[in-house]
Amino acid sequence: MNHQIGTVVSLMVDGQKVTVPGGTSVMQAAAVVDIKVPKLCATDSLDAFGSCRVCLVEIEGRKGYPASCTTEVEEGMVVHTQSDRLNGLRRNVVELYVSDHPLDCMNCSANGDCELQDTAEALGVESCRYGMDGRNHQDAEKDTSNPYFTFDPSQCIVCYRCVRACDDIQGTFALSVDGRGFASRIIAGQSDSFIESDCVSCGACVDHCPTEALTENTIIEHGLPERSVVTTCAYCGVGCSLVAELKGDQVLRMTPDKHGQANEGHACIKGRFAFGYATHQDRITKPMIRENIDDPWREVSWDEAFRYTADRLRSIQSEYGRDSIGGITSSRCTNEETFLVQKMIRAAFGNNNVDTCARVCHSPTGYGLKTTLGESAGTQAFNSVAHADVVMVMGANPSDAHPVFASRLKHRLRQGAKLIVVDPRRIELVNSPHIRADHHLAVRPGGNVAFINAMAHVVVTEGLEAGDFIAQRCEDEAYRHWREFICNEQNSPEVTERATGIPASELRAAAWLFATASNAAIYYGLGVSEHSQGSTAVMGIANLAMVTGNLGREGVGVNPLRGQNNVQGSCDMGSFPHELPGYRHVSDNAVRKLFENEWNVQLHSEPGLRIPNMFDAAISGHFKGLYVQGEDLAQSDPNTQHVERALKSMECLVVQDIFLNETARFAHVFLPGSSFLEKNGTFTNAERRISMVRKAIEPLAGMEDWEVTMALSNALGYPMNYSHPSEIMDEIARLTPTFTGVSYEKLERMGSIQWPCNEDAQEGTPTMHVGKFVRGKGYFAITGFVPTEERTTRHFPLLLTTGRILSQYNVGAQTRRTANSEFYSEDVLEIHPFDAEERGISQDDWCGVSSRAGNTVLRAVISERMQPGVVYTTFHFPSSGANVVTTDNSDWATNCPEYKVTAVQVSHVSEPSQWQKEYSAFARRQEELLDKARVSD
Ligand code: SF4
Ligand code: SF4
Ligand code: SF4
Ligand code: FES
Repeated sequence: MNHQIGTVVSLMVDGQKVTVPGGTSVMQAAAVVDIKVPKLCATDSLDAFGSCRVCLVEIEGRKGYPASCTTEVEEGMVVHTQSDRLNGLRRNVVELYVSDHPLDCMNCSANGDCELQDTAEALGVESCRYGMDGRNHQDAEKDTSNPYFTFDPSQCIVCYRCVRACDDIQGTFALSVDGRGFASRIIAGQSDSFIESDCVSCGACVDHCPTEALTENTIIEHGLPERSVVTTCAYCGVGCSLVAELKGDQVLRMTPDKHGQANEGHACIKGRFAFGYATHQDRITKPMIRENIDDPWREVSWDEAFRYTADRLRSIQSEYGRDSIGGITSSRCTNEETFLVQKMIRAAFGNNNVDTCARVCHSPTGYGLKTTLGESAGTQAFNSVAHADVVMVMGANPSDAHPVFASRLKHRLRQGAKLIVVDPRRIELVNSPHIRADHHLAVRPGGNVAFINAMAHVVVTEGLEAGDFIAQRCEDEAYRHWREFICNEQNSPEVTERATGIPASELRAAAWLFATASNAAIYYGLGVSEHSQGSTAVMGIANLAMVTGNLGREGVGVNPLRGQNNVQGSCDMGSFPHELPGYRHVSDNAVRKLFENEWNVQLHSEPGLRIPNMFDAAISGHFKGLYVQGEDLAQSDPNTQHVERALKSMECLVVQDIFLNETARFAHVFLPGSSFLEKNGTFTNAERRISMVRKAIEPLAGMEDWEVTMALSNALGYPMNYSHPSEIMDEIARLTPTFTGVSYEKLERMGSIQWPCNEDAQEGTPTMHVGKFVRGKGYFAITGFVPTEERTTRHFPLLLTTGRILSQYNVGAQTRRTANSEFYSEDVLEIHPFDAEERGISQDDWCGVSSRAGNTVLRAVISERMQPGVVYTTFHFPSSGANVVTTDNSDWATNCPEYKVTAVQVSHVSEPSQWQKEYSAFARRQEELLDKARVSD
């Protein structure tokens, strides 16, 4: 009970004295002195429920046999967990369960991993006195509708664990118990199958089921795993810790790691189930080369591939100059691999032409947060949200893109925290089970800066500023200057209403809610950064956090929800053309010297080319060679036609990937990559948490990605010699002030570390800017609103915005090769009923989507989640050509593309677009050229 929290209670359990905090259950107190009370419905991770009555104990002075899982300790309590009477009662309960349970343990796939079996054995229940002839559920039909797990009601003991896991941990409320007593049964939705219900396949119910009632299909098919390896999910920026469970070399399941600090025992459909791509037949495991892209591929040895690549790149440099080649690091690869790629480019290519896919997602975050707060990263740990009273989610859709964080957030919201959602669409968080946003501010695409300025305008003009915080922590002159700017009537909710589409009165109410909270936190995503004013919006967010004093403690902060698993890490590792690892400018002589001494090479002081500059230079004939590791530029970058032209202009395009992706269709060299299961290294998630990636199986192509980069560098004549990624991390630590305390030994010991980790913060830094900003005083940047050039016109009257869906991931190369495609098999165009009707478009019709950049065709989904005038699509399938339509407008500071705002027209059509036809023909041709390499194998 709450009144006991904070107190300490001593009691006796089976003659042993135990001292525990008030509020602890008798079962937990017994566990402290290693006394295990039998249980079925209780688990460590769920609140006690008290349904099974197996955990009965005797308490002196109390009548009856209370359930130890739901009984709280009291001072001086004397508890007995073992007696003949208790064992008799427990056996009786278990026998009743067993009487309605198949007694075929030897042939059950859960044999050896079943808590009912364990409990029966521990209590000596070998048979059932009640027989199996009474009423039972043994003929109940299995639900096999979910591609990843099966529900077998005949094995169910109605312990409610699955229901509680779905409610409390996942927050989806898909399961319930129908009926009473003997008739009780678990149902998904309104008695639907799992697939028809609201279930999002997170697997939490499966993890918590004590029997085989909910079991992964791989376990039913192959039996229990024999070994396990703890690693880190390779999908999104939440960075969940997962346990890869294997039989031989086959991964049978991935379960969430209870000790994982980012996820605390939870996962989502992608990390939990969508790992089959790693051994998909499309994997390419032999290096391949060809003279030009109309030639068939030719499989070659690794040595020949390295020699060939090095010769071609060097000959390009001798013909077109040192700066005519460059490379792209991957936010999917490890820190160590990314570090090596940028090192190879700077040291072996001899230029700074290195960039990364963060260019097209969160580069404005780096710029905006560095400018205002002094560090290019989010400020909090994920568990900080448990202390937030008001949460503003802006341009992010965590339920789909960062699901495990969404579950944490929902937990806090169910406890009473308030929610402001700023998004053009009515995302799931706006109205989901037991959650309703206090404000859904349906901002018009392109109106973010006007919106964030209006929020700050209300704070300042209505006297809601955190005066003391600003006076102590922020630059005085910059603040005064900014204050004058923000108070200007142009920034008022009334004047900005036209740009934001948000009623002024509602914006004012949201600003009051945010500014008057004890702890208000901002979480944002690509809906903020992928705009022509992405960096300005990020600075506006930082301004709002500073002016309301919401930085430097738990429950507050500015939290970018990073897209890819290692996008934070790839930026930290020096993947941008102007920065060496640790965000230090290449023009800084002292920093360069440090690297020059370590790398034994002279480095250039001029920033190199960004991705869009590389494309432009390729088309104009000055840039001829590109090494791309783990990134699919042809699908993910905007204005596909422009990208394709640039790729076709290359004389040597080298792609290192696990599949022949869209970019590889334009390549001359293909170097097989290794999936996250096949290598050692580290990823850094959105909360700056560095976590270990551990090899579960040997690399299918024989080399880990870092070994490939090292060999290529050696072939280019710049020697690299590492025997393990830990040596690369040691070099990173030597060269990067925020990493000086990081080592594999410490990561193994601590589980994970949030940087900065150095002399001043030996155990890492969960919350940044405590007491003082990294840059000293916080800087209020002027964030004038400049409308995007991408405006609606008579010809293009709608605004297209893009995003993600839960079951697919980014360009879909991995998830499309798993059963996740059963949940979402094509990109569609969401359109408001009003806009659809006006165009004569019905559900599932083909719609032509045309912009100033190009045309594509998508199937229509009519949805009131959209606001009139705005349409939406995802970009998980290459043939849908979402980026054929997006333009090459980009953020003024970082060139991050403006994916989120494209003026389009939508019309009813009957056939694919010209681009789609050409794409299909090109893709078919490239598949044939690949098949030729395989035939010659
Ligand atoms: S898989 Fe997740 S969402 Fe689906 S029923 Fe189980 S706990 Fe709920
Ligand atoms: S399905 Fe499993 S977790 Fe759910 S009630 Fe049945 S036995 Fe318990
Ligand atoms: S939330 Fe992200 S990191 Fe966690 S399991 Fe899902 S995809 Fe992986
Ligand atoms: S474990 Fe306590 S009642 Fe089930």
